[in-house]
Amino acid sequence: MKTPVIPLIQSDDPAIAVRTAEALRAGGLTTLEVVWRTDAAMDCLEVIAKTVEGVTVGAGTVLSRAQAEIALKRGAQFIVSPGLDEGVVDLCLSGSIDIFAGVSTATEVQRAWNLGLRTVKFFPASLAGGAPKLKALSSVFRDMRFMPTGGVSAGNLAEFLAIPSVIACGGSWLTPKAEIEAGNFEALTTLAKDALAIAQTAKTHS
Ligand code: 3PG
Repeated sequence: MKTPVIPLIQSDDPAIAVRTAEALRAGGLTTLEVVWRTDAAMDCLEVIAKTVEGVTVGAGTVLSRAQAEIALKRGAQFIVSPGLDEGVVDLCLSGSIDIFAGVSTATEVQRAWNLGLRTVKFFPASLAGGAPKLKALSSVFRDMRFMPTGGVSAGNLAEFLAIPSVIACGGSWLTPKAEIEAGNFEALTTLAKDALAIAQTAKTHS
């Protein structure tokens, strides 16, 4: 993962999703996750994959192998799941597709490790124990890398990124619904720039 921050895009409208992706790209964030929480999610993903240059787009909230197959056909370059499903993991590992399956306990991390995963999503990061829990898990699973998501914001981003096992954080704080509905896409660009600045400082000081 080349980026420290992965914004979530949730939209009913492919045209709005494209504007969202472009605004985030303008702020320097080029790895984007379109979450499958609307009926139009795969249309949004496909149009971003086909028309927004210079971004890597993945599908999030993928719950099953069948959904993962559809997302990959529609152009997803990586898959994110809230939990750990062997069908999704098998499909992605056999196709060398990056998969970020959600885990929040030692048992789940261990199961993911035994399925062959070396990177997982820590979800829901803030409610599951935040940075202290993640540090404890990292000390045990020393070759596991984590993508905390869920409750990450500009306020706690640095704390998560300072943990050496954290490769990136995901979150929806970069795509506030109110700004998108108001057509204020510049706000998203500013949030993206701010997040990158925080990430730069966090990694420098870790
Ligand atoms: C996810 O899908 O990973 C989470 O719902 C994102 O959580 P957030 O909205 O708190 O960033």
